[in-house]
Amino acid sequence: HTYVIIMAGGIGTRFWPFSRTSYPKQFHDVLGMGRTLLQQTADRFDGICPPENIFIVTSSLYKDLCQQQLPQLSDDQVLCEPIARNTAPCIAYACYKIAQHDPEANIIVAPADHIILKEEEFKRTIQTALDATNGQDILVTLGIQPSRPDTGYGYIQYVHSADTSESNSQIKKVKTFTEKPHLELAQQFVESGEFVWNAGIFVWNVQAIIKAFETHLPEIAEIFEEGKEAYYTDKEAAFIDKAYSLTKSISIDNGVMEKAHNVYVVLSDFGWSDLGTWKSLYEVSDKNEDFNVIDGHIMLYDTKNCIIKTPKDRLVVVNGLDGYIVAEYDNVLMICRKEEEQKVKNFVADAKERG
Ligand code: GDD
Ligand code: MG
Repeated sequence: HTYVIIMAGGIGTRFWPFSRTSYPKQFHDVLGMGRTLLQQTADRFDGICPPENIFIVTSSLYKDLCQQQLPQLSDDQVLCEPIARNTAPCIAYACYKIAQHDPEANIIVAPADHIILKEEEFKRTIQTALDATNGQDILVTLGIQPSRPDTGYGYIQYVHSADTSESNSQIKKVKTFTEKPHLELAQQFVESGEFVWNAGIFVWNVQAIIKAFETHLPEIAEIFEEGKEAYYTDKEAAFIDKAYSLTKSISIDNGVMEKAHNVYVVLSDFGWSDLGTWKSLYEVSDKNEDFNVIDGHIMLYDTKNCIIKTPKDRLVVVNGLDGYIVAEYDNVLMICRKEEEQKVKNFVADAKERG
């Protein structure tokens, strides 16, 4: 009864120009490991869930990319969204569809664009979460020890119970869930030592998440519940077109996790990183003796603390840079100070305007 939903519909704007609307980061081999982030995500569930129980939810624009990269999946394992409505509708679609086929499904929801270095530890953590959620009306998320006051994550405050009778001390009851706090709040959270980051990987049984949708996002519940007659038939695509035209855009974090009272967190440490930004890629990559991360045909002089990623078929010469991102992909070259990478979003918007 174990199923995996891989969310692969994001555009990854903060990773521009590498991540493009036409080819978002989850479809790239970002770390040069021979497998793309999407492929690595699917590989990670080997032995946890049979391949036929893996569903990808993505934009219809990326259907072909998903099938090329994961040829083991059949046509109906790639669920296509006509428009992006953030993660709550994405999860609702997949969960209501799975419920139709298996009302006792235990579900793992995973983003397609994370790296996880300690695979065995990840598998153990997932198993702990699956054991906890089987037959229980609870929502489980995985929590990561924060290393900086990053405002791009959800923060989870949990009950530090001293109760030794607790069957598994890795699992904690969640007190508060705050999605993407502003910087001062994030700083307070990290300093207090009471918070972990939400890894964005969720585990629950299908009845628990359906109940949570009915309670916290009843409009979305109603829309996808109505698909009962359509899922797994030739009416599904038309139904989904209509459903997405009706549903609002909201994340599962804002829509459900912040509001629910039955949330638990599994304290985890599996070498997790959300490759959301250039800096996060810099952090996890191997560096040379001058703390540069380089990928391409590159000659460096007097250059340190940079991340430089350029096509292999052109020679790039860099002299005298400190702390920069130099990234070329397709027809775009971006040079930006690493400390100002939050501006990348603006560049994308401006570049779009220029066409
Ligand atoms: N199918 C589909 N449709 N997938 C989507 C959509 C959508 O409309 N929007 C986002 N996704 C996918 C992304 O591709 C990514 O794999 C995942 O859903 C999460 O979306 P992000 O947009 O990357 O979320 P985030 O990183 O800002 O925040 C989430 O992840 C953080 C950890 O990485 C939240 O869960 C935070 O609480 C969490 O800390
Ligand atoms: Mg993300």
